[in-house]
Amino acid sequence: MPPRLSNQAGQRKQNTQWSTIVLVLLGLIILLGLVILIVWLVLKPKKLEYSIDEASIDGYDLAKDHLNSTFNLVVRTYNPNRRASAYYDSLEVAVTYGNQTVAYQEVQQFVQRHRNVTRLRVSPTARYVALPEKTARDMSLERKTGQLQVSVRVKARITFKVGLWKYRHHKLRVFCSPLVIYFSSPAKFQWTNCTVTIK
Ligand SMILES: *[C@@H]1O[C@H](CO)[C@@H](O)[C@H](O)[C@H]1NC(C)=O
Ligand SMILES: *[C@@H]1O[C@H](CO)[C@@H](O)[C@H](O)[C@H]1NC(C)=O
Ligand SMILES: *[C@@H]1O[C@H](CO)[C@@H](O)[C@H](O)[C@H]1NC(C)=O
Ligand SMILES: *[C@@H]1O[C@H](CO)[C@@H](O)[C@H](O)[C@H]1NC(C)=O
Repeated sequence: MPPRLSNQAGQRKQNTQWSTIVLVLLGLIILLGLVILIVWLVLKPKKLEYSIDEASIDGYDLAKDHLNSTFNLVVRTYNPNRRASAYYDSLEVAVTYGNQTVAYQEVQQFVQRHRNVTRLRVSPTARYVALPEKTARDMSLERKTGQLQVSVRVKARITFKVGLWKYRHHKLRVFCSPLVIYFSSPAKFQWTNCTVTIK
């Protein structure tokens, strides 16, 4: 029965060929996975950093629980990434007092390149904004001490780009608090750090 024997040998040979192919494929898949992991680790965007560098108030007027006021802010943002640029699709700055948003402003789209510091000069303005009675009372009392403690929130949608790679539509949330603004001596304002979350 020599033909059968040689047949078996041929089958065994084919089997080893197959297992070599499977092993090589597995190896390639693992290698590819490693390469993707390394590229991701190298390119993964780091969080942007935010602070409020300057703050002052203009045209403050509070009467009959209605507020007029302009908050002049310098919002400083730093992109610590070595390669990723941040494309801002939208950005909105809001000033809140005692949980009430009293003023906000939208900023035009812009690009923040890697390792770039951008200072956004914004002036969210309250124009005859109705406040709850208690909030208005607190604010008016605090005004008499010559200062106002507010918070600043920034909401933005960003896309990170590294070369041709894009990480689409991250939601950026920034919270800066407390921000103590002095009416007569804005220079006394203390630089305020912000907490940043990216989803
Ligand atoms: C706020 O400004 C508006 C005009 O923009 C004016 O009619 C209103 O009286 C002002 N309100 C206060 C409280 O000053
Ligand atoms: C703001 O809201 C939080 C919860 O929603 C509350 O605990 C806090 O007392 C509020 N602060 C003020 C100043 O109203
Ligand atoms: C950051 O980018 C802006 C806009 O492109 C530019 O005006 C500014 O000079 C840059 N700042 C630094 C520190 O590179
Ligand atoms: C401000 O934030 C940065 C970045 O999160 C942090 O490294 C630094 O220690 C903070 N500074 C203060 C004074 O909180």
